[in-house]
Amino acid sequence: MQIIRGFRDILPENIGLWQRVEKEAEKLFEKFGFQEIRLPILEKTEVFARSIGEATDIVEKEMYTFPDRKGAKLTLRPEATASMVRAYVQHKMYATDPIRKFYTIGPMFRRERPQKGRYRQFYQIDAEIFGVSSAYVDADLIFLLNELFKQLGLTGLKAHINSLGCPACRPGFQKALLDLLESKKEELCHDCIRRKETNPMRTLDCKVHGCRKALKDAPTSLDYLCKECRDHFNTVKRVLKEQDVEYTEDKTLVRGLDYYTRTAFEIQTSSLGAQSAVAGGGRYDLLVKEMGGPDIPAIGFAIGFDRLVQVMENLEKTIGTTRLDLFIIALGDEAMERGHLWSTRLNLKGIRTEMDFRGKSLKSLMKRADKLGADHVLIAGKKEIKENSLILRNMNTREQISIGSDDLVADIIKLLKKE
Ligand code: HAM
Repeated sequence: MQIIRGFRDILPENIGLWQRVEKEAEKLFEKFGFQEIRLPILEKTEVFARSIGEATDIVEKEMYTFPDRKGAKLTLRPEATASMVRAYVQHKMYATDPIRKFYTIGPMFRRERPQKGRYRQFYQIDAEIFGVSSAYVDADLIFLLNELFKQLGLTGLKAHINSLGCPACRPGFQKALLDLLESKKEELCHDCIRRKETNPMRTLDCKVHGCRKALKDAPTSLDYLCKECRDHFNTVKRVLKEQDVEYTEDKTLVRGLDYYTRTAFEIQTSSLGAQSAVAGGGRYDLLVKEMGGPDIPAIGFAIGFDRLVQVMENLEKTIGTTRLDLFIIALGDEAMERGHLWSTRLNLKGIRTEMDFRGKSLKSLMKRADKLGADHVLIAGKKEIKENSLILRNMNTREQISIGSDDLVADIIKLLKKE
């Protein structure tokens, strides 16, 4: 007997990274005030059909939908947001406090064509914030994603952000887009001719060459934002800059679900071939009301867990390492000499330690530590050695403490084992 196509067993020998990601994510969610929620994987079909949108690929062709024995139409969840909103509304969570932050981790189901990074059962790490319309939380969520990826030692990921506008400005954009689609209809693919009628915005991320060419200068939502949406988007960008989160403004980012308003974002990587989005999300200020609740804004994201693990596996293969406890940055000859001794002793004591002997600068060594996924960095420069006060930096929390070099090996063992 064989497993269903597009489904996977995650075997014990591969489970390490899954567990590590889960732990890091849970730790971070807790720090930022998110509570865990567990939701069923089966819902009434209408929960997804209405929220995700009848004319999306997910609802049109990818859902596992079937009647139960009494004929009720049920669907294996293709994503978590709709269930999350259903639960928020059903349990009237807004009545006690509309501002709620939830996360959930679990399997989702979409009957897509399986390929690397794309499965029919896949896992998501999903987070949602209800009740806050401020652009600060948009930036916060992107920051949180970025932070999680950093803590997992991932490099080469980039946040793509866009604003999809609101009911005040979207009609203007849609009309302009429809006018263009009408004038170019001879050049569009079959699917886009259909999308023109059902979901015009989706034509903007069609991968067919002819469509790309025809729609090269198509109007985008960013060109049509009303003042409120523009101010909101500018705040998101400003705060991201303040928080040192790198991003690209990507006006072709339209997302595959219909519920989005204003900010939409994806974290993309070039290391997964065609499946470049490791996470995606955005604001959906109208959905709670559409699903029968009060007028409450919301925003969230979902990380593709399988893809995240894949990126981590690729990275570990390319840099050929497992986890690193400590990276010693030794600046100058004396520091190098002593650092080397500490490094070997720590390795023998089971603290995985590396250092670099190429005489590089502090900045480039910090980068190297980041690339190796070091949990801690020990900084020993001339001054630190002279003053007998080395700096130990926790790369996850960014906390720094100063420690003496006399009994360094014992101290490090104590400190790292305690954490
Ligand atoms: P999504 O973009 O459809 O958004 O999915 C989020 C992530 O799940 C994707 O970026 C991708 O990494 C992963 N993913 C999607 N489909 C597959 C698949 N077939 N195989 C493997 N991984 C996949 C949502 O689902 C929204 N609910 C996100 C959200 C939350 N928006 C607001 N709140």
